[in-house]
Amino acid sequence: MDVLPNEFLRTDFGHEIYDEWYLGSASYNFDPPAFVERHFPFYEKALSLSKDDKILEAGCGTGSYARAFARRGYPVIGMDLSPNFLAEAEKITQRQNLEIEFILGDYNKMGFEEEFSVIFFEGSFFYQSKEGLVSLLKRIHTALTPKGKVYFVHSNPSTRKQQFPMVDWSEIQENVFVLQKAEWDEGNQGERGTWLKIDLRTQQHYRCDFFNQHLRPDALKNCLVAAGFMDFHFYKKRRLEDFHPENDDGFSVVATK
Ligand SMILES: C[S@@+](CC[C@H](N)C(=O)[O-])C[C@H]1O[C@@H](n2cnc3c(N)ncnc32)[C@H](O)[C@@H]1O
Repeated sequence: MDVLPNEFLRTDFGHEIYDEWYLGSASYNFDPPAFVERHFPFYEKALSLSKDDKILEAGCGTGSYARAFARRGYPVIGMDLSPNFLAEAEKITQRQNLEIEFILGDYNKMGFEEEFSVIFFEGSFFYQSKEGLVSLLKRIHTALTPKGKVYFVHSNPSTRKQQFPMVDWSEIQENVFVLQKAEWDEGNQGERGTWLKIDLRTQQHYRCDFFNQHLRPDALKNCLVAAGFMDFHFYKKRRLEDFHPENDDGFSVVATK
């Protein structure tokens, strides 16, 4: 009788698990062009974009936002840590006759100095601790030109935690299953999740454990100040109105160097 492996191969922010899945049945994790277009007037106003800007889209995935910037004539570079997403981004971008430089990299390790006037995150701003966040914000601060701006969306932990516990699964290909389980960790203010990929064809199974912190708006402000940002605004998510912590489920942050 065959002995089945009962070990899962460990993976970090799990490309073995999520690339194939995101590019297929979970492609809803990438914002579709109509969604991007709908919010573009907000980005242009909140970031006071000009054609002289040099934009870094951090965690660009398959590049929907980078292409929206490029289509309007804003110089942009896309960065992601997934080679598979970047290959897809390049393909779509060429098909649309646009030219964008995509770079493979981890934004937590980026070493740019005064290179970009805008650093833009959409659905891609993740951190595991307050210290990790401050160190990421410091890197962003260093990478920005004087008066440069960072943009990201943040969830409001008091509403976010109501979405947990969460359990879900999908069959991403015949005999390949992805299971997701996540719960709220009140002590550490964040979501703790496990993803399993069970591949009954190859018997190669993968496990990815992760933690994403979601700080309260006041704690987030302290981190922005600790990283050197003097000026910041918390908008309702992708809208030019002020964020209200009591009832909004998330917010858009624009911080200026
Ligand atoms: C939910 S997707 C969003 C992609 C894109 N911004 C969009 O909305 O279509 C999150 C992306 O962030 C990327 N990512 C996560 N952590 C990253 C890191 N440390 N450095 C670079 N990219 C990262 C992932 O590979 C993934 O492509």
